[in-house]
Amino acid sequence: MSDWETIRLDHEEGVATLTVDRPDRLNALNVETLEAIEEALAEAEDEGARALVLTGAGDDAFVAGADISYMQDLSVAEAQAYAELGHRVADKIESFPAPVIAAINGYAFGGGCELALAADLRVASEDAIVGQTEIDLGIVPGWGGSQRLPRLVGDETARRLIFFGERIDAQDAHEHGLVGEVVASDQIDDHVADLAADLAAKPRYALAAAKETLNQAHETTQEAGLRYERRVWSGLFGTRDQREGMEAFLADREPDWE
Ligand code: COA
Repeated sequence: MSDWETIRLDHEEGVATLTVDRPDRLNALNVETLEAIEEALAEAEDEGARALVLTGAGDDAFVAGADISYMQDLSVAEAQAYAELGHRVADKIESFPAPVIAAINGYAFGGGCELALAADLRVASEDAIVGQTEIDLGIVPGWGGSQRLPRLVGDETARRLIFFGERIDAQDAHEHGLVGEVVASDQIDDHVADLAADLAAKPRYALAAAKETLNQAHETTQEAGLRYERRVWSGLFGTRDQREGMEAFLADREPDWE
């Protein structure tokens, strides 16, 4: 296993947990941390993770954003490289071949919110606070927020969140559809672990196919998306899990997935 200073990656029964671990900086993402996340995602994929949990160390923050002390004096070219790195990491979360759950256990601002937006599911603790706060730093979301946020919450709400840089609590985030559910702070770890374990117990190739087709819904026209769906759907026939799932149903027994 790799040795990173600012993140941890744990594997347990098919579930990989990637924890951003810079609590003295509220888990803000500097270059080293983003690069480590990129490597950890590749490692989790190589290890065959069937679900991945993304969270932050400590009780205060999921991720308090991109690293403001690093960004302060960046040139345009350096900022471009930082945005490309952030985009690459978010894209790898989005295309990770298993469901990714963001366990938002505290502040998720700016790039932290954008990291969560790239996940498949977002669970927030009741005391989490989230927002695209970049406007108050004189910049705008640069790691996908301008594209992923409106898809999730709708155009007007995204404009409001980004224009005002508002910091909203978990309940408001839930009402906007920015997070899928809110749970008590002392239960978020167990709850997310249960969700991840349930996902890890599903047929992995079908889940990956479901994720791919859902991702396509945001990428393409409906006609092309339906064509893609037909290909992915029919491609699952003849796989061990398709035969097993249907045979188990017809024999009235539990399936034994690959
Ligand atoms: N980048 C770099 N350092 C950060 C950071 C960030 N995004 N967010 C917090 N930190 C650092 C603080 O500078 C502070 O460092 P210090 O101990 O050397 O002073 C440390 O983390 C603790 O943060 P602090 O502000 O003292 O904690 P707090 O509990 O009073 O406030 C927040 C917490 C999250 C409300 C506040 O830190 C904040 O607003 N952070 C910036 C959020 C933001 O705009 N993010 C978007 C960036 S794109």
